[in-house]
Amino acid sequence: MSYRLLFGFVLSLVLQFSLVLSNPPGLNIGFYQYTCPKAEVIVRDEMTKIISRVPSLAGPLLRMHFHDCFVNGCDGSILLDSTPGSPSEKESIPNLSLRGFGTIDRVKAKLEQACPGVVSCADILALVARDVVFLTKGPHWEVPTGRRDGTRSVKDDAVNNLPPPFFDATRNLYQFFIPKGLDAKDQVVLLGGHTLGTSHCSSFASRLYNFSGTMMADPTLDKYYVPRLKSKCQPGDKTTLVEMDPGSFRTFDTSYYRHIARGRALFTSDETLMLDPFTRGYILRQAGVAGYPAEFFADFAASMVKMGNMQVLTGAQGEIRKHCAFVN
Ligand code: HEM
Repeated sequence: MSYRLLFGFVLSLVLQFSLVLSNPPGLNIGFYQYTCPKAEVIVRDEMTKIISRVPSLAGPLLRMHFHDCFVNGCDGSILLDSTPGSPSEKESIPNLSLRGFGTIDRVKAKLEQACPGVVSCADILALVARDVVFLTKGPHWEVPTGRRDGTRSVKDDAVNNLPPPFFDATRNLYQFFIPKGLDAKDQVVLLGGHTLGTSHCSSFASRLYNFSGTMMADPTLDKYYVPRLKSKCQPGDKTTLVEMDPGSFRTFDTSYYRHIARGRALFTSDETLMLDPFTRGYILRQAGVAGYPAEFFADFAASMVKMGNMQVLTGAQGEIRKHCAFVN
């Protein structure tokens, strides 16, 4: 722990220094310093309790921040409930497998008790994502805060902005990452987030049973891994969960890159990162005996801050929701 804290401290200094100039206006580290000085401690304490009781929530909560940010920016819109006749982002197919909304409500309730109407739901998502990574033995980083909450949440926006697992990495890069200001390095680094959590069989079953209409398995999947996956996932299975980083799916580390390097990534979006020389090089370096966790941790922290700064609402824009599921 002390090594990670020291590492986190040094990383924070470097990041703070380099980000002071690059944070969007209105977003800064320690935004709640005067208005809600304990905000980050409250989030950390609550998340420590929750993850120690339900460690499987770490993955979905990290994923939730990504699903928030990629759809019209990090504005907490993923948290809004549908209203009559207007299905919200929550109802889109990629979001049906998200979990952890109750956790966000619980953290928000604690913050409302301490400082009513001050801390945005969008910031809570960013802080919770940072904390679940740290609590699963990953890096710690300073999160620029000051995001405000949006009022629009539309189901089709999520479908149109979230990359699907069956597209290849190049298509996802040009269609989804680059237009949002993220590059190939951010892509290979952020997909390292698949070191945590699980996937439903249905998210990759076509690679096992009917790849590109061939009625065969995807030939790029490790041929020894296919029968193991088939034994877990029968055709049509919509409920079984499979670890994405088997052996350490509750620990944030470099081992997911070893699975990609061996043809054992569950998704085409991840496996095809091996086709591009740059992303392949990154994966192979991290897939070495011990990987380069210090490099991956620093890169992940930097890319998370970059992703978390996308299209944020600040200043007088948006609002601070009282309850994360409803606009005020
Ligand atoms: C090309 C981009 C991406 C694609 C196509 C993708 C796709 C997926 C899919 C299909 C799942 C499994 C969902 C299920 O069946 O339950 C998943 C899970 C997950 N994703 Fe991604 N993802 C991408 C990027 C990211 C990013 C940028 C992050 C965070 C930095 C992330 C974090 C996670 C986590 C932690 C899980 C596990 C969730 C759980 O345990 O329930 N993903 N992703």
